[in-house]
Amino acid sequence: MFQSNLFQGKTVLVTGGGSGIGYEMARQFLTLGAEVWIASRNEARLQAASQTLAHFGVCQWHLCDIRQPESIEALAQAIQKQGKPLDILINNAGGQFRAAAEEISSRGWLAVINNNLNGTWFMTRTLADYFFIPQKQGIIVNIIAQMFRGFPGMVHTGAARAGVDNMTKTLAVEWSKFGIRVNAVAPGLIHSSGLDTYPEPFRTQTLVEFPKRIPQNRMGTAEEVAYAVLFLASPMATYITGETLYVDGGQRLWGDFWDLPSER
Ligand SMILES: NC(=O)c1ccc[n+]([C@@H]2O[C@H](COP(=O)([O-])OP(=O)(O)OC[C@H]3O[C@@H](n4cnc5c(N)ncnc54)[C@H](OP(=O)(O)O)[C@@H]3O)[C@@H](O)[C@H]2O)c1
Repeated sequence: MFQSNLFQGKTVLVTGGGSGIGYEMARQFLTLGAEVWIASRNEARLQAASQTLAHFGVCQWHLCDIRQPESIEALAQAIQKQGKPLDILINNAGGQFRAAAEEISSRGWLAVINNNLNGTWFMTRTLADYFFIPQKQGIIVNIIAQMFRGFPGMVHTGAARAGVDNMTKTLAVEWSKFGIRVNAVAPGLIHSSGLDTYPEPFRTQTLVEFPKRIPQNRMGTAEEVAYAVLFLASPMATYITGETLYVDGGQRLWGDFWDLPSER
């Protein structure tokens, strides 16, 4: 669909690239000529993913916990050792759990905010310091979530993703002077490994019942999310910054695909 050499000579870092949507983004960047780094916490998963991804191009992996600034520094230094610029950062790593707001503990709240908001900030700031600001060039795409009307059932991740949405706009303005573009992609309900973490019967409902309530009457795919990311990261989007692109089959505009998590 895209020109086969669209990202030739570019280096891309995808956090959470060992699974699901991140893996698919890494795969597509590789098929379009980029060299790709994937980074997350699970070594076995990263190794296995990078072995498969090696069929599509040059893929390297590095352990990284986005909640730990020193872990991000180590990743940045490993990339820097290659002696090439980093061109594109995809902040995709994240996770959450479903719970009624009144049932979320302080620990649960902090865990999700720390991962999805603080982690994204630490990654962004560190990689900008190492590469994008001195290079006076860089592209950042933040993967958030469809939370247009709030995120009933997941208040913690709604707040975190809204924070990243706002961060996207602010950095787009502040860092235009460095030649950095910052955009976000907000997936709706996507058929990917992220859903494996949800318990039954929620998981089955997610796969069977909830898609019926989405205007397009189906879940999205990791490929569809990746296409949006590739576009925003490409030279086709050089005048787009501070934007959030929804990939949700129209879900933000109509209907509620799940019931509230606890009875009234
Ligand atoms: N699937 C959906 O319907 C959907 C909808 C909206 C938004 N999203 C978001 O899109 C992103 C990808 O989702 P997915 O469905 O592909 O889920 P996934 O397979 O669970 O991917 C999440 C990735 O993030 C990594 N990760 C989590 N915490 C991390 C940390 N502290 N440091 C480094 N890496 C970390 C995980 O790897 P390790 O375990 O190895 O660290 C994993 O590879 C996530 O942020 C997710 O919340 C998904």
